[in-house]
Amino acid sequence: MASPPSQALALDRDLAHTEFDGSFSVEWLHQLRFTREAMADDNSVLEQLLPDSDDQLRILAVVDSGLAENRPELPDSITSWCKRHDDRVTLAAKPLIITGGEQAKNGWDSYETTAQAIASAGICRRSLVLIFGGGAVLDAAGFAAATAHRGVKVIRFPSTTLAQGDAGIGVKNAINAFGMKNFLGSFSPPLAVINDTQLLTSLDDTHWRGGLSEAIKVAALKNPELLQLIEDEADVLRQRDDKSLDAMERVMVESARLHMDHIVAGGDAFETQHARPLDLGHWAAHRLEARSDWTLSHGDAVAIGLGIDLTYATMIGRLEAQAADRVLKCLIKVGFSLQSPWLDDPDELMQGIEEFREHLGGQLTIPLISSLGTPDQVHEIDSAVMKAAIEAIRQGKTPSAG
Ligand SMILES: NC(=O)c1ccc[n+]([C@@H]2O[C@H](COP(=O)([O-])OP(=O)(O)OC[C@H]3O[C@@H](n4cnc5c(N)ncnc54)[C@H](O)[C@@H]3O)[C@@H](O)[C@H]2O)c1
Ligand SMILES: [Zn+2]
Repeated sequence: MASPPSQALALDRDLAHTEFDGSFSVEWLHQLRFTREAMADDNSVLEQLLPDSDDQLRILAVVDSGLAENRPELPDSITSWCKRHDDRVTLAAKPLIITGGEQAKNGWDSYETTAQAIASAGICRRSLVLIFGGGAVLDAAGFAAATAHRGVKVIRFPSTTLAQGDAGIGVKNAINAFGMKNFLGSFSPPLAVINDTQLLTSLDDTHWRGGLSEAIKVAALKNPELLQLIEDEADVLRQRDDKSLDAMERVMVESARLHMDHIVAGGDAFETQHARPLDLGHWAAHRLEARSDWTLSHGDAVAIGLGIDLTYATMIGRLEAQAADRVLKCLIKVGFSLQSPWLDDPDELMQGIEEFREHLGGQLTIPLISSLGTPDQVHEIDSAVMKAAIEAIRQGKTPSAG
């Protein structure tokens, strides 16, 4: 190991072969809060998370267009919040509305619009960008914020179930480029994440259930009690009546807790290893989303991907069929369909396995489970068996039936 740099002149060394190593680490407090009506008069969650500043903190708010359409009052409530807290903050520009959904990540438009707004609003590294939206807007606007001035502070307000229970809690962002999902992006932890569950009530059914496939995934991997909770609440979750938000909130809190635990205690927050243990069902999900030209949502695709991977795990004898059946039934009970026209070409779909390896680099590692709550992984895939698993899902067969 090379020596650390010292104060002394290095004249006695062989300068052509000098090596200096030094290590440093950065302590990061990952802050996640659940609340309802974050912009309301009596809600102090955001205020408590504001970074200390001698001057007024300049704020730029970015809002998902789908969210703004369903909640036209939101931009004004952000403006009012800033006015009420004008001893600490100043709104540097009108809230910026950017295209919601995967379109935000396809191409440079949303990235550029956000970066441009950061520049013209005079947002610097001591300022704050608030991003309200689904996972796609968090990713695209987050990438712009992470690269403007080499990184400005962000507080995320995830507004879909997928974003509140999973995507919004992560420490990364990305846009799709050169035909590849999430090809350009960065690891860049937000200052805080505020899950305002009230925002979830205006979601369409697809994005309402979207976060449930990730919750069922993390339950299968880490916590069968969460699976039990989702099974018990499945009807309430699907019906969307006045009890559904309470039920969804319970599931979101647990799903978020498990995802957060993975980031802060899993030992690989910046994914330097070959494995991505939480990506159960994801190689197929990513490929299905791309094949459908992103008409299939991530949540719906993850449900199908889980079906394929758990069926495969039972076919190769690493998982009991009853355990896989239970997960698949739970997915269907909360409203997912595991059958899809995009399953018509197993060979084409299986190219997703190589893409999955390439995205991480190095050795192929596909996460599976060996029982409910016990993660497992394989480094090789038996193509014939995987094709059979895809075919079984396409035909609507449960693992124990096939
Ligand atoms: N960065 C990460 O760690 C990470 C992890 C997982 C997924 N993701 C990404 O997240 C994206 C998917 O995110 P998503 O599932 O949140 O969907 P989304 O962001 O695509 O949003 C779905 C739709 O809902 C609308 N919308 C958002 N909030 C709303 C609300 N409260 N009411 C009504 N409409 C609303 C949006 O405008 C959009 O039309 C994918 O691009 C995926 O790659 C990122
Ligand atoms: Zn996912």
